[in-house]
Amino acid sequence: MATEDIMWSEKYRPRRLEDLIDQSTIVDGLRNLLKAPAAIPHLLFSGPPGSGKTTMALIVSKTILGPYVDDYALILNASDERKLEVVREKIKTFARYFDRRAGVPFRLVILDEADEMTRDAQTALRRIMEDHSSYTRFILTCNYSSDIIEPIQSRCTLFRFTRLAGKDIADFLEKICKNEKVRFTQEGLNLIHDVTGGDVRHAVNTLQACASMGEVSVPNVEKIAGISAKAFVGQVIKDALSGNFTDARSKMIECLRVYGIMEKDFIRFAYEATGQFRTDESTEIAEIFAKYDSRLTSSATPEIQLSALLAELSRLKRKT
Ligand SMILES: Nc1ncnc2c1ncn2[C@@H]1O[C@H](COP(=O)(O)OP(=O)(O)O)[C@@H](O)[C@H]1O
Ligand SMILES: [Mg+2]
Repeated sequence: MATEDIMWSEKYRPRRLEDLIDQSTIVDGLRNLLKAPAAIPHLLFSGPPGSGKTTMALIVSKTILGPYVDDYALILNASDERKLEVVREKIKTFARYFDRRAGVPFRLVILDEADEMTRDAQTALRRIMEDHSSYTRFILTCNYSSDIIEPIQSRCTLFRFTRLAGKDIADFLEKICKNEKVRFTQEGLNLIHDVTGGDVRHAVNTLQACASMGEVSVPNVEKIAGISAKAFVGQVIKDALSGNFTDARSKMIECLRVYGIMEKDFIRFAYEATGQFRTDESTEIAEIFAKYDSRLTSSATPEIQLSALLAELSRLKRKT
């Protein structure tokens, strides 16, 4: 299953300006700018997590570049690409080509979570923005605009995203429930908003976790809000050790993506959890974990390594 099918926060990511909830000042402002795409300035989106900044950056690039978006937009997540050299080389290589085609006013670089960049990296970025600004536009996102160096701020038009209102989030969640045919109570939906404090991503993830318990109700929301990462990883291990690889794998992906558990924590909690379930193959289990623990350190794609780990654990069951 693709991640997008597993995660509702991706499945329900707005694709058009009019689908975004709240943020109407920003939507209006951008809609105006988009009337003359060629004249669009560099953009800086600031605001709390889960308020729609990345979504908006994607919508703007799609609106400007249309069918050419894959070739003419470069999306970098600054927190994944912390190394100055990586950012510099990627942007430089991309921004250097100034070929044009009809309907493409410029290339776009989306630098997500730009406040994660060091000041040195930002200074280098500023120079790149200056050198290439005639045929490259930048969209930067950040939590606090004050973490972006002044010379970059002054080159961008700033849009401040705000936390979303409770009623609007509850309505959005209700629509998802109806579409997914999930049972819910209004109190349950309201409580999700209260415990996630205006972060829509967190709200949708909590909704999804409740839905997998059968109903979005107050007791279930309370359980999910209080559930520890450890307990959830424990469920993954239980599935794997009973030979159910498919469920274990999709729950593992949910752990990483929905609950934001780090791979290293996942493997540590997972190993602890094996202690609860059985003892007869404990040496084999320890060896399997040791192998994947060291692979995780060197591997670029932890999800694949963790899937392989779960596959090996699931096979133990079949042997017995
Ligand atoms: N204004 C919004 N309207 C509707 N959904 C939203 C909004 N903001 C965030 N979301 C939901 O939260 C998810 C994360 O949004 P994103 O734009 O990545 O947030 P961030 O501000 O952290 O970049 C989206 O996929 C979508 O499901
Ligand atoms: Mg974002």
